[in-house]
Amino acid sequence: MLGVEPKNLHSSIPVPSVQELASLQLEAVPSRYIRDDMESIISTVASDNTLRVPLIDMTKLVDSESQETELQKLHAACKEWGIFQLINHGVSDESLRNMNKQTQEFFDLPLKEKKRWAQKPGSLEGYGQAFVTSEEQKLDWNDMIFLKALPIEDRNLEIWPENPPKFRESLDRYSQDMRQIAVALTRFMAMGLEIETRELCAAYEEGLYQIRMNYYPPCPQPERVTGLTPHVDIPGFALLLDCGDTPGLQVLKDGRWIFVEPLDGAVVVDMGRITEILSNGLYKAPEHRAVVNKSKERRSIVTFCYPDLSFKVGPAMELIKLGSPPLYKTVTVEEYLGCFFNRKPDFPFIDTMKI
Ligand code: OGA
Ligand code: NI
Repeated sequence: MLGVEPKNLHSSIPVPSVQELASLQLEAVPSRYIRDDMESIISTVASDNTLRVPLIDMTKLVDSESQETELQKLHAACKEWGIFQLINHGVSDESLRNMNKQTQEFFDLPLKEKKRWAQKPGSLEGYGQAFVTSEEQKLDWNDMIFLKALPIEDRNLEIWPENPPKFRESLDRYSQDMRQIAVALTRFMAMGLEIETRELCAAYEEGLYQIRMNYYPPCPQPERVTGLTPHVDIPGFALLLDCGDTPGLQVLKDGRWIFVEPLDGAVVVDMGRITEILSNGLYKAPEHRAVVNKSKERRSIVTFCYPDLSFKVGPAMELIKLGSPPLYKTVTVEEYLGCFFNRKPDFPFIDTMKI
């Protein structure tokens, strides 16, 4: 979601739709998208990766016979990767397929129609491109729509698409489904960390759920362009639905960019800074990015999950002992978001949370 350090963090200046650019069938992409500063794009896109992102099975976490072993797997996945695929998460394939279809239909609408729900000046919500704040800034090969979904009072219906006709209804259901996964997962993560579960789960029950739908058109020069610049997410975690079978998401693991292979019916769980802070640095919020493909488009639906605004984000009490002093300050989610939006360019945000 983040990564570039823009000057004005509250708004984004309009740039061309990448989807429209892609439809021009250019042989070369405009220089604003060329990332020859990023050696790693060129070197890893085509490489085969032997390392695999861990797979966690929610039914095994629930079943008392397999719980202990699966909890250990979850704990290790959060510590060593900060990202994993979650299967049997309890949300129906129908809900996932439905949201996928609505998203596809939305991006397939003519540009003029999509612009009915465009970002308004001073806001990051709506259809457009995220965090574009200068004419010189390098751009990602990505169009997106970003919407606050829960709590219901946060919904800005002015920019919730009414076309396709079932979009709103699907997003309503989908956001509640993602909350269900978030709460369940939080309980198991807390069990893995051996910290108190009740308060944390309640905070995610009442939490903030913000959804970003990404569209990555085919790109004539995928080895010189980023779909999404490398970044670390800031929420508790993000739940990512890969909408097809074209890989695009990559995570940085031990200095190598590893593809997260799309897995039908799975949800990718990616730790954000809030979990890193809560676990006093034990769980890592990984750096990740999206790459693009020469002939194939790709879509993803990413739900950013936060505890409620009054929840205190700080290292869990149980993890603070002799030899493990707190590494981060404790602030409410509201203050945390305030710090994020007012952070100084060129100064890593997470460092402002360190003691
Ligand atoms: C994001 C993100 C990756 C993807 O939206 O924060 O990391 O594959 N997306 O779309
Ligand atoms: Ni992200």
